Amino acid sequence: MYKIPANTLFLGKNLVFVPECHSTNDLALQLSQKPETPEGTVVITNHQTAGRGQRGNTWHAAPGMNLTFSVIVKPAFLALKDQFYLNMVTSLAVRDLLKNNIDSNIEVKWPNDVLINGKKVCGILVENQIHGSRFTNSVIGIGLNINQEEFALPTATSLALIRGQKVDLAGTLEILLANLESRYLQLRQQKLTLLKDDYLRALYWRNELHTFSSHDKTFEGVIRNVDDIGRLQVETDEGLRVFDLKEISYIR
Ligand code: BTN
Repeated sequence: MYKIPANTLFLGKNLVFVPECHSTNDLALQLSQKPETPEGTVVITNHQTAGRGQRGNTWHAAPGMNLTFSVIVKPAFLALKDQFYLNMVTSLAVRDLLKNNIDSNIEVKWPNDVLINGKKVCGILVENQIHGSRFTNSVIGIGLNINQEEFALPTATSLALIRGQKVDLAGTLEILLANLESRYLQLRQQKLTLLKDDYLRALYWRNELHTFSSHDKTFEGVIRNVDDIGRLQVETDEGLRVFDLKEISYIR
């Protein structure tokens, strides 16, 4: 059902489809250990039985209705300190896809959710393997809600819910892979400022006063920036505070 994309140089040229698996990230991590697995390999399934999310969460997606896949890249060119750029590249590729599809507010919620009108449509899980001071393999896992219309959480949505009609999975994958490749090539060309600027422009709650919590304490603040190593910078009454991936929650 999924076909090799015609409009990419290397992403998706090796397309591994499995009807069912535990997690495409796990499968991709295994495949990436084999020397014959080329960069750009995509592992995609119709049904993930133990999908993994950020912070040890699980990722649930109704079988056959959504895109659940992982991409293997080999960013040996990337400095370890810049690893968050892989998250930025992926979030931006999904945002590029949605922007061309729907006339709604598309934002990226740090660290790497993509939202339509404030509701989550996509989750991203990037897992890196490092040897010495270099990345050997990175697995970019993407769960994009496409045709599912009912969710356990009221904060989730799908492309079909927004568009009011079913969406072609294979066609959407093809465009998304092309977007991901062009954003990844920008990274390979060290266009870090451009990527960061695009990410900041799309950042949810940026430059707005909101309530957050960290270590069981609630506070008000304004998201201003994401620093070079991917931490969130929030301006508060106590000055600029910096948060790592698991250190802050969005309240209201
Ligand atoms: C999150 O929002 O917490 C991240 C969710 C990432 C889900 C995707 S689905 C494909 C890939 N395989 C996994 O096990 N997880 C990612």
